Parts: sequence; structure tokens; C-alpha cells
Amino acid sequence: MDKLVIEGGRRIVGEIRVDGAKNAALPLLAATLLAPGTHRLENVPDLRDTRTMLRLLASFGVEWEREPGGALLLNSDRVENFEASYDLVKTMRASVLVLGPLLARLGRARVSLPGGCAIGARPIDFHTAGLAALGADFDLDAGYVDGRAARLTGNTVYFDIPSVTGTENILMAAVRARGTTVIKNAAREPEIGNLIDMLTGMGARIKGRGSDILEVEGVDELGPASVRIIPDRIETGTFMLAAAATGGELRINGCSPQHLPALIEKLRRAGVKVDQGDDWILVARDGGDITAVDVKTMPYPGFPTDLQAQFMALMTLARGTSVITETIFENRFMHVAELRRLGADISIDGHSAVVRGRKNLRGANVMATDLRASASLVIAGLVADGVTEISRIYHLDRGYAGLEKKLARAGAVIRRESE
Ligand code: UD1
Repeated sequence: MDKLVIEGGRRIVGEIRVDGAKNAALPLLAATLLAPGTHRLENVPDLRDTRTMLRLLASFGVEWEREPGGALLLNSDRVENFEASYDLVKTMRASVLVLGPLLARLGRARVSLPGGCAIGARPIDFHTAGLAALGADFDLDAGYVDGRAARLTGNTVYFDIPSVTGTENILMAAVRARGTTVIKNAAREPEIGNLIDMLTGMGARIKGRGSDILEVEGVDELGPASVRIIPDRIETGTFMLAAAATGGELRINGCSPQHLPALIEKLRRAGVKVDQGDDWILVARDGGDITAVDVKTMPYPGFPTDLQAQFMALMTLARGTSVITETIFENRFMHVAELRRLGADISIDGHSAVVRGRKNLRGANVMATDLRASASLVIAGLVADGVTEISRIYHLDRGYAGLEKKLARAGAVIRRESE
């Protein structure tokens, strides 16, 4: 198992380029199951999760190759198998994204239940209830949800809480259903807009892009699409927070500043300078203190839960006390115990973490507990005096491509070692 060793106290300075968004690549890859032909996806990040999705697609019969320029060509003329096995699903919850496309294409899908996840129970009841509203029948058999649908039919699907992958699954089923589907209280994350662009490119008819009401008119036939994955807003935000925490100055290229409204606002209130263009962000903090600001995670365009842990790392160094409230997942404070090992002063009160800022952190051995928690430990380690060793970084590799290499090029002293 690999670990990261960081010698803290260096400023993050220079330029960094972000990769394509993991959370857009996964549904767009799954969408290739919907229609025969060769689909072309540009800017797919090379991550453990995208490799898992490619293995899953290959297990259904999709053949893929990389163009010399890096774009993925995926041929889904033959989709025969419809079972997503436990071995693949257990490593990546987003495997559930194949449920909607398989039902739409084959009228059959058997997907292992994702089971518990470190950041909360994360059920898939919204997915199955929405697909059932479109006419699918589900059985639970030996840990698998077994879905059948002779022909999906449009209906109204209402989400109690806007679910990102839930909205994506219903969209992918509805585009091939007979008649009109209306999704109410749909999630509005930018990754859903990217999926809508792909589905539209395949011939789907969808109204309401960017809003919480989506109207889909089913069509009989879809064809292959060519689309570019949007930049990863969570990777972008992680670099912004690393630069702010280390008192650095970083230009982040190839990103979408318009996808980070809440983080940009909170950083400015914390006293960090943020400039932006169409596809770049410049973050600078030259010696000034960070002011404590409160944050509450919310569905997009609110503050993303996927940046909560990294923002907390910044707040451990702020002047004053900040309250960070997690409203999306019930158990997403596992990084708190690890940040405390680095000297942070944080207490948990229900769904809120109360962070009393300190002058500095001290290096220590810590353990990554989930994907975004790992990123928060990297930020804390970059700031801490002395050496920080982060073990179990396979979590980090699920969602960040070459994070330590990018940071090293921007002045960090960070290396990967095998334990
Ligand atoms: C997606 C993202 C993940 C992000 C999360 C919230 C992907 C691949 N993953 O996860 O990085 O942290 O959105 O922005 O895009 N819920 C149910 N029943 C369901 C589905 C969800 O109760 O069937 C609940 C969840 O427990 C959670 C809330 O709904 O409390 C929102 O979760 P959801 O948006 O579905 O998260 P994911 O799509 O799994």
C-alpha cells in the first residue's frame, strides 16, 4: 500500500492544470450503454474510479480504446451481459449508474447493492423508486437488485432530496421511455448538464438543463455521441484551498470558475484573493491572516459536500472560530480525528464541526479514511511544521490523478512511498 510523505511549510506557487471531472466521466461513460455505435469522450481523467467503470462496461460487452490524443472511443454495438458484479460494485458506489441505461437498452439489469459506505448509509432507494415509476420491477436477490422492464414509460419522478446519481439514472432511462418524463426536485450539479449535453448529442430531447425540473420526451432511437468531460470542480477547489492554506499564489488553468460560486465567495470572505477568467482562477494569500467563516454544505449551487473536509483544513488555521455544518451525508467528519492528530482544535456537535483556528499545525502520521478526507489531510500536511505521513491513500487515487506530482511542481515537498 502506498503512503504520502509531506514536508510541510512550503508555499504552493505557480500554475496547475486540472483534469476532467470524475463525477462527470462516470455517468457519461455509463451513458455509452444506451446506444450502439462508437462514442467519443474527451478529457476522461485516468483514475481508479474511471478504470473501474471501464472494466464494468467491458464486462457488459463494450469495447474501448484510446486515440493517440487521449480521447476514449467506446463501441457499444454489443451489450449482452446485464449483471454488475459485487467485486466491481463494492469498490465504487457509482457503479449503480449502469442501472438506468441497462434497463433502457436491454430491459434487464442486475446490479449488486453498493452496501454501506464510509461516509454514510447512502441507499439507492431513490434510484429504484424513480425507475419503478417508469415501469421497472425490482426484486432483491442474493444482494443484487434485479430489475426488469418490458418497455419503460414516461412518468413524473419527484426526489425528496435532490440526488445527483439518482437524477442521472432517471435521465438515462427516460430518454428511451415511451412518452414524457418530468423529474421534479432534480439535482442541478454541473455534471448533470454535461450528461444532458451528451444525451442530447445522442438524439435525446431534454428541456430544463440547469434547473430542478427536467422534462424528457422519450425517443425510439439514439445514436453515438462525441463530448468533452467538464473540468473537475472538486480538484480545482482542492488546489485553491491548498494555495490559500499555504499562503501561496497559484493559477489554476483549464478549470470552470462558474462551477465554484460558493467556494469563491467563502474564500473571499476568509480574506483570500481570488481572480478569475473564463477558464482560470488565481488564488493568492500573501502573509495576511485567514478569517474564520462558517460553511454549510448544500446541493449545487450551495457549498459542495465534496469540499467540506478540505475547507475545514483551511479553517484550522483561521483567526477565530468557524462552524462547518454537513447536511448531505450523516457521517462525513472522519477527517476530524485525523486533523486533530495534526494539532487542529475541532469539536463535533451533531452535524456541525466547531473549528477553533490556531497559528499552526504539527506533522504527524495520519490515515486517509475516504476520498475527500484524504485531500484535506494533504492540505493540512502541506501547512504543518515537520513531516506528515498519510497512509491508505488508495482512497485519494480514486478521485485525483497525480495529485502529489502536480503539487510537487508547484513547490510542495511531497512524495509517494510504498509501505
Ligand atoms: C454524488 C457524487 C458525490 C457527492 C454527492 C453529493 C457522483 C459519482 N458522486 O453522490 O461525490 O458527494 O453526489 O453531492 O456523482 N440518498 C438517499 N437515497 C438514494 C440516493 C441518495 O437517501 O437512493 C441520499 C444520500 O444518502 C444523501 C443525499 O441523498 O444524503 C444526496 O446523495 P446523492 O446526491 O444521491 O449522492 P450520490 O449521487 O451518491
